Amino acid sequence: MALSLKHQTIITLDCTHKGLRSKEQESAMETAVQEKAGTQSRYKVLEVERLNPTIGAYVRGVDLTKPFDEDVADELRLALADNLVIFLRDQKLDFEAHRRLAAVFGEPHVAPSTKPWRVPGFDEITKMHADENSKYVAGEDWHSDMSCDPEPPMGSILYLHTLPSLGGDTVFSSMYAAWDALSDRMKAQLEGLTATHDAVKAFGALVPDGMTLPCTSHPVARTHPVTGRKALYVNRGFTTRIDGVTERESEALLSFLFEHVQSPMFQCRFTWTPNAIAIWDNRCGQHMAIWDYFPQVRSGFRIQVKGEKPV
Ligand SMILES: [Fe+2]
Repeated sequence: MALSLKHQTIITLDCTHKGLRSKEQESAMETAVQEKAGTQSRYKVLEVERLNPTIGAYVRGVDLTKPFDEDVADELRLALADNLVIFLRDQKLDFEAHRRLAAVFGEPHVAPSTKPWRVPGFDEITKMHADENSKYVAGEDWHSDMSCDPEPPMGSILYLHTLPSLGGDTVFSSMYAAWDALSDRMKAQLEGLTATHDAVKAFGALVPDGMTLPCTSHPVARTHPVTGRKALYVNRGFTTRIDGVTERESEALLSFLFEHVQSPMFQCRFTWTPNAIAIWDNRCGQHMAIWDYFPQVRSGFRIQVKGEKPV
């Protein structure tokens, strides 16, 4: 009887959750189940294992330390479009291999704000390092990389060679899922609005005095140029103001949206290992780095890839 009751409860809960999911989420879940069962693979070269139906996948079957075929490049692009963020382990990248991998996704994006942290001789490679002397780490709050730029980077390729014994995870959130989960009335209210993204909010206290930092307005919801899907595009790291409404209205809307994107329903969490890589799409996702390992060392390099003006 107890077993029967427990079973009944599980079914009831599942039905309740199902009622809250959008058609897109249902479809993604079905695809994930089919792929897990090996009945629907879009990949001929790579092995792509989803972390959950919404965001994130492990990618295996390629050695990125050596030159690779265009078939691999095509499937890496496909895996990123399908999953928003992809993870590869045990890839000991030197700077040239890192550059080669980034070129799969486009030209490097050299952001003015990264100047203090660039690797000498490699303008597009930024050192990402935290240790016992760190007063802060990059990306501790939810953000989309460099959304303050007029044409923010479409993606980022982060390679970490040194990790703390525990901690230092990165959490990613799907802005497709965040947008889809809003009511039609809220979507209608946000459609057509723009918001200001200001680098001073993220870097103002960290860069040398007198350095000019970008500040740009972008649509609150943008359409992904590859998938055609709509994604929420405001983030706590850079967004300061919804344009064209009162200060109080802006504060209320942003406060709601910043809290909304933090739902575990939209997320995956990656636990790094030495020589792992994360490749993410800034146009449809946000992420945050968890600094729970002080005073230990977490260290590596990042390349960002040029994007387009959000529309
Ligand atoms: Fe970031």
